[in-house]
Amino acid sequence: MAFFKILAIALSIAASAVAQTGTGALNNSLSLTPAMGWSSWNQFGDSINETLIKETIDTMEKNGLKEAGFTYVNLDDGWQRYKGNRKDHPGPIEADPVKFPNGIKSLADYAHSKGFKLGIYNGPGENTCAGYTGSKGYEAEDAKTWASWGIDHLKYDSCCSHKDAPDSEVQAVHRKMSESLIATGRPIVFHACHCGWADIWEWAAADGANQWRIGQDISDDFNYPGNREKYYFDVLDMLDRGANLTKYSGPGHWNDYDMLIVGLEGKSGQLVGTGASDIEYRTHFSMWSMVNSPLLIGADVRTLSRASLETLMNQEIIALNQDPLGLPAVVVWEADDKSAQIYGKELQDKSYGVAMLNRGSSTREMSISPRRDLTIPWDEYRVRDLWRHKDRGPYDVPFGVEVMAHEARVFRLSNVEDAA
Ligand code: GLA
Repeated sequence: MAFFKILAIALSIAASAVAQTGTGALNNSLSLTPAMGWSSWNQFGDSINETLIKETIDTMEKNGLKEAGFTYVNLDDGWQRYKGNRKDHPGPIEADPVKFPNGIKSLADYAHSKGFKLGIYNGPGENTCAGYTGSKGYEAEDAKTWASWGIDHLKYDSCCSHKDAPDSEVQAVHRKMSESLIATGRPIVFHACHCGWADIWEWAAADGANQWRIGQDISDDFNYPGNREKYYFDVLDMLDRGANLTKYSGPGHWNDYDMLIVGLEGKSGQLVGTGASDIEYRTHFSMWSMVNSPLLIGADVRTLSRASLETLMNQEIIALNQDPLGLPAVVVWEADDKSAQIYGKELQDKSYGVAMLNRGSSTREMSISPRRDLTIPWDEYRVRDLWRHKDRGPYDVPFGVEVMAHEARVFRLSNVEDAA
């Protein structure tokens, strides 16, 4: 039996164990595929307001992003009225009346009227990473407030307030908010954000989280060794970080590789990083799709280049991310020096998604063999090139292509017999 099938069975056993324990596992039944949308942080930091969000919604409605599946519009930090300690601002949580003069409920109504969902951000401490009032001591009340506003997604961020807290405390504060959200009765996707610390992947799904960050904040870089071991992770760092965590990810509970950097082009008002080439952004999007990360655009959608829009709207790549089987890709081959890797994953229709990733600095030949690399006994197979939108084959020998430096060539392989 193929490795992927064994993995699928193991995942489904784990999922039913969660449903059957009755020992307090939480499950909101949401996010059966990774969330797709936009989030304000990577480009704008806390410089957000109602006009920006409405223009973002209007643009995504018109330029095809909504139709491509990007429906969550998420406010990150900076929507709140007060900076400082929540104890000094003990009333119900409020939006900044200057940035959001009509309030968040009216913004949620606007988003919903256009077929979008609205997300919001806060954290379990006295204050958030950007210094705004957190939810400590007001968890149930804040959850009710967000539900009454019509919120659909919460990023609950303990990265700063609980950086040095014991793992059990981090788990407890996330569980508390997860329970509070479920108690509202409104379907609200729950992102438990702890910057890849406290082995969050080991417990977050059972505490009702639909996604959790596997690393610290992404930088607008494809591969910047100077950034390694500092706070920020580049695209390759994030992929490597996730390589051993794929078993934790599946329908309803996803490893989150952080918000996309496609289109930032070194112009973020918030993130460090010098930007990446169009090929590197395309590789980043391909790989986030292969590993089933949530796909949250981080750039200003009003000024995206044609190349970035084409990257973000490749439906054949998005289909890998949104495949109902929900198996994240694993590394099935890598060069001894790790300068090239092949990622593979089984899809619901029994075809396989394959990405040939050239991490090195010059073009190289790469090849895939279903028998050798995916351990599936196909005699003849077809290849669909998901960036060139072309069918190739059938083949009964390994399929090889040239892959440019920092490029990922992405294919869907299918057994000739299955198609017959
Ligand atoms: C942390 C998170 C970021 C962002 C900021 C907001 O750094 O990792 O993604 O949400 O907080 O302050």
